[in-house]
Amino acid sequence: MMKTPIYDFLNKYKSENNIRFHMPGHKGRGPNELKAVSPYDITEISRADFLFDTSNNGIISESEKNASQLFNSALSLYSTEGSTLAIKTMLYLAVRGKSRKILAARNVHKSFINACALIDIDVDWLYTGMALNSVCTINLTSTDLENALSAYKKGELPSAVYITTPDYLGNILNVKSLSNVCKKYDIPLLVDNAHGAYLNFLTENLHPLSLGADICCDSAHKTLPCLTGGAYLHISNNTRDEFKNRAAVKEAMQIFATTSPSYLILESIDLCNRILNDKKYIGRLNQLCKRVKKLKAEIKSIGFKVIDEPCTEPLKLVLLTNELGINGKELLCLLEKHNIFCEYADESAVVLMISPENNEDDFNALLSALKDIKKEANNHSCFYKDNYINIQPAEKKMSIRDALFSKTETVPIDKALGRICASSVSICPPCIPLVISGEVFDRNAINLLKRYSIFSVNVVQ
Ligand SMILES: Cc1ncc(COP(=O)(O)O)c(C=O)c1O
Repeated sequence: MMKTPIYDFLNKYKSENNIRFHMPGHKGRGPNELKAVSPYDITEISRADFLFDTSNNGIISESEKNASQLFNSALSLYSTEGSTLAIKTMLYLAVRGKSRKILAARNVHKSFINACALIDIDVDWLYTGMALNSVCTINLTSTDLENALSAYKKGELPSAVYITTPDYLGNILNVKSLSNVCKKYDIPLLVDNAHGAYLNFLTENLHPLSLGADICCDSAHKTLPCLTGGAYLHISNNTRDEFKNRAAVKEAMQIFATTSPSYLILESIDLCNRILNDKKYIGRLNQLCKRVKKLKAEIKSIGFKVIDEPCTEPLKLVLLTNELGINGKELLCLLEKHNIFCEYADESAVVLMISPENNEDDFNALLSALKDIKKEANNHSCFYKDNYINIQPAEKKMSIRDALFSKTETVPIDKALGRICASSVSICPPCIPLVISGEVFDRNAINLLKRYSIFSVNVVQ
């Protein structure tokens, strides 16, 4: 069984009732309502190591070595502040000492934009392959990337390429072929794999690190049995030596991080490693993928359309609703009436996330709800048809950072035409910015925002 150094330490500390004269204020004893967890919620005391310690010999570094063994990485470092912290760190590492330009596929999560504002990164956007019916998906191919990189003048290439895969709808990019293009130009490939930590444990390993990414982040909490906030920052064995320097990566991470990382979350990542090292769990995970494949077929036979293989991750279930004449958000509400709570819905899709903690009862409840909803839909005539519009290339007038730090005013959306966006506008989830700080609001952007019921925005004064 894989060792759990953080969990073991906390357990021992708890049994010794040792929290007396140091933080936190609850001392592991109160309040009553939190007694199940407060004894494990310690801070950096002697022997407890420190998340950003650059030496290599405490309980956290021991646990991180376990993680790197599991993910076959040079380094797998922990974040208690989600992928959000890992994204800031990887961007900083990529541009340090180089040009602060990154080439990124446009369907980024807003944590990327915030990191760019903090680090003052200039982004060239890739829109090619933006799917017509969703802001979430961009079907970027190696040819698109090759075309984009070959258009740069010598000496002006970006410091990294940044992609999001899997995306919020579960679509997976061909990381291997994209990585080959990056290698040709000697540019690191950074991957937001927030939704794909579990891909490393499938019979066919689909994790970006195993397919050629240089650095990637995994939100362990999204798909693995880990507390919210727990994430990994992985560095590949096959990347530049400067990225593999543990002390340098820790230094980079602590620039953006809290000095009080949660030991509860660290402990849960530590335990998660042990679970991921258990053949039985991995067997269950792979069995579940087969079960979900069958579930998707069952759902299709009821009359719903689902996003299916080959390029979708197995544990996301995405119902496409327009074929039924229903708005996705409407379907989400109908499902909630049946006590089925989903991850996300927009006008044309509903997203459900499945993990090995789900069981047959959950699947049966879902199938039965969908059958009822389908019957109701048959009895009423449903006319909903989404008027698909999508993010279009926008004129950039200021850097993300300058726009975000400028004086702003809030205006109704119809008065925003031609003005510069101050704070990026997104809907959450999926937290993909529709208009980004520094871009000019054009007619398409305004229509897109109205479609998402956004009626006022912040513009540069
Ligand atoms: C694609 C993507 N990237 C990054 C993040 C940020 O992850 P975290 O919440 O772990 O900080 C999210 C969160 O939803 C996401 O969907």
